[in-house]
Amino acid sequence: MKVINTIQEMQTEIIKLKSHSKSIGFVPTMGYLHEGHLTLLKRARVENDIVVLSIFVNPLQFGPTEDFSSYPRDLARDQTLAECEGVDFLFYPSVEEMYPHSLSVRVVVEERTDVLCGKSRPGHFDGVATVLTKLFNIVMPTRAYFGKKDAQQVAVVEGLVTDFNYPIELIPVDIVREDDGLAKSSRNVNLLPDERRQASVLYKSLAVAKLAVEGGERNPHVIKNLISNMIQSETSGLIDYVEIYSYPQLKQVDNLDGTCIIALAVKFSKVRLIDNVILEVGQEFGGGK
Ligand code: PAJ
Repeated sequence: MKVINTIQEMQTEIIKLKSHSKSIGFVPTMGYLHEGHLTLLKRARVENDIVVLSIFVNPLQFGPTEDFSSYPRDLARDQTLAECEGVDFLFYPSVEEMYPHSLSVRVVVEERTDVLCGKSRPGHFDGVATVLTKLFNIVMPTRAYFGKKDAQQVAVVEGLVTDFNYPIELIPVDIVREDDGLAKSSRNVNLLPDERRQASVLYKSLAVAKLAVEGGERNPHVIKNLISNMIQSETSGLIDYVEIYSYPQLKQVDNLDGTCIIALAVKFSKVRLIDNVILEVGQEFGGGK
C-alpha cells in the first residue's frame, strides 16, 4: 500500500492507472476505521482493479461548536487495517493541502438538506459536497462506496453525481452494527461507559418501529412517538430528531407508503449518534391489515 499526501501525486498515479484502463474503487472516510469502513473496502476490493481509501477529517463539514478537534484520529492503526483489506493507495492529505487558501468556490446543496442532519447541522452537507467534489476530481473513481448509515449523505451524493455529471457509479452499502445493534461509528469511542450501554436502545427503538409497521401501523406520528418514548425512558440522551420521510426524496409522508426512512439523531454528553432503517412499505407489507 502506498501512502500519498499530495493531490498532485495522487492525480499522477490515477492518470497512469486509467491509461491502462484500470477501474478505481474509492472509499472516502474521515478515518478511525471500524468494521463499517472495512465493509466498504472489502466490497471495493472485490469490484475494482485498484482500491483507493482517503482519510481526511474535513473541517468544512463541522459546525463551530461540533467535534472537529475531538474527532478520533489514529493513522498508524488505520494504516494497518487498510493494508489488511488490500488497499492500494491511502490518500491522506493535510488540511493545508486540501484547503491552502479560503475557497473561492464552494458547492451548495439545494435539496434534501432542510430535514434531518441538514436541518440540525447547517452547512454540513455543503461541506461534504465540497470535499467530495475535490476528492472525486483527485481520485477520479469508477465506483465510490458510501454507507447507508449516513442515508441522507447517500441521497445528497446521488444528487451531486447526477447534477455534476460525474461518470461515477455510486454504491450504497448496508449499515454494519455491533452485537447489541448499535451502528458502528468512529464516534462511539467518545461515549461514556453508561451511555455506551444505553446506546443500543437507538437501534432497538428502530426495530420496534419496524415491527409496528410490519404489523400494519402506517401513521408516522404513532411510530415517531413509539421511538421517542423508548429513547427518553431508557437513555440519558437528548433527542435531536426522530423523523420519517420518503427515501431518497426525503419528503414528508402522511402515511407510510413506498420506500420510507425512519431516522434519528440523539445527543449524548460528548457525541451525537445517528441511525436509521429504510423500509419498503407495500400494500402487502406486514399482511395483517
Ligand atoms: P466517515 O464518517 O468516516 O464515514 C465514511 C463512510 O463509511 C461513509 O460512507 C459512511 O456512511 C460509512 N460508514 C460509517 N459507519 C458505517 C456503518 N456502521 N456501516 C456502514 N457504513 C458506515 O461519512 C464521512 O466519513 C464523511 O462525510 C465523508 C464522506 C468522508 C466526507 O468527508
